[in-house]
Amino acid sequence: MNYNFSEIIDRSNTASVKYDLRNLIFGSGDVVPMWVADMDFRTPDFIIDALKKRLEHEILGYSIRTESYYNAFAGWLKRRHNWEVKREWVAFSPGVVPALNMAVLAFTRPGDRIIVQPPVYFPFFDAVSRNGRNLVYNPLILENGRYRMDYDDLEKSCIEGASMLILSNPHNPGGNAWREDELRRMADICLKYNVLIVSDEIHCDLVNEGYKHTVLASQSPEIADLTVTMMAPSKTFNLAGLATASVIISNPDLRRKYTEVLEDLHIGNGNIFGNAASEAAYLHGDEWLGQLLEYIQDNIDYLEEFIELNLPLVRMIKPEATYMVWLDFRLAGMNDEELKKFLIEKAGLGLNEGTMFGPGGSGFMRMNLACPRKTLEYALDRLKSAFSDQNL
Ligand SMILES: Cc1ncc(COP(=O)(O)O)c(C=O)c1O
Repeated sequence: MNYNFSEIIDRSNTASVKYDLRNLIFGSGDVVPMWVADMDFRTPDFIIDALKKRLEHEILGYSIRTESYYNAFAGWLKRRHNWEVKREWVAFSPGVVPALNMAVLAFTRPGDRIIVQPPVYFPFFDAVSRNGRNLVYNPLILENGRYRMDYDDLEKSCIEGASMLILSNPHNPGGNAWREDELRRMADICLKYNVLIVSDEIHCDLVNEGYKHTVLASQSPEIADLTVTMMAPSKTFNLAGLATASVIISNPDLRRKYTEVLEDLHIGNGNIFGNAASEAAYLHGDEWLGQLLEYIQDNIDYLEEFIELNLPLVRMIKPEATYMVWLDFRLAGMNDEELKKFLIEKAGLGLNEGTMFGPGGSGFMRMNLACPRKTLEYALDRLKSAFSDQNL
């Protein structure tokens, strides 16, 4: 079957964060929304059918994740990531961000030091500081258009007593599909100082042409023992509104600590629709995902060529994974406030400001490419005109 990713679907007035919060976030309801990480593509038919089928039974009482759910998830992980997961390792979370917060509560104490690697997905910062823990930055280094980890600095932070590292694997917003050698070197340092790794792998299925996702916990039993993995079908299949994710922990002691927090909050079972949609996604999603990745790759290629031909003051960090692209506007010579105003008021674009992603984000913007090509073309034409109107 051929899926149509080019159809422009009006999402306004559907209680959509991306569309219906534009006035609040950008001060304008007209910007082309290329910010929050969900896609402007239809959720695939096999998922909608599963949801409709579940609705036909018109009782929506408390629900559980069934054996068939776990089998579908384990099958997906084996098939797509060559990772064998046991049923009892998998726990629920109503999202990866809630899971990050629960992990901080379960595995650390107030005042503990937790490492993050900016520029990075901003809820990592809040998960640490809003829970009364201390943020420790291990900034990534941008070198020849790609981010790399600073292992010496990481080791220093471990020696100074950090108890946890929160990893974005693949990396948002830098787009790294971290390689095995990079992950192993990082994990060896964490193992040496007994620093727990929380590996946020929500973008694991969205890996672009020529790259591969490495599940950190699959690298060795020692690494698995010190790793808590977070995954969800939400980015891959556009299901973020169903608030459904999984936390995978093979170490029984860590698992007990996590499930205690989950049970204290009474949120361990998930919701009927999240469970039904995830199961359908994991059972039937391969073909759709293959076509989605091709479409996203074409959008990335289009953007790259457009920048090369038309936007000399913009540099693109080429994403190895994810549909989010990290754009470097530093050559344009604007400060962050000027850049924000320029993009909203002159170009009419709603992007994520780089400064939100912490140190290293100044002068950058994050752009969401999970949209029909026509939307991307329109947005880039506006950006080009905005630069020429400014004589830049
Ligand atoms: C790295 C990363 N983690 C987590 C999330 C959000 O997770 P959830 O919606 O499941 O809380 C995102 C969404 O953009 C993300 O990029």
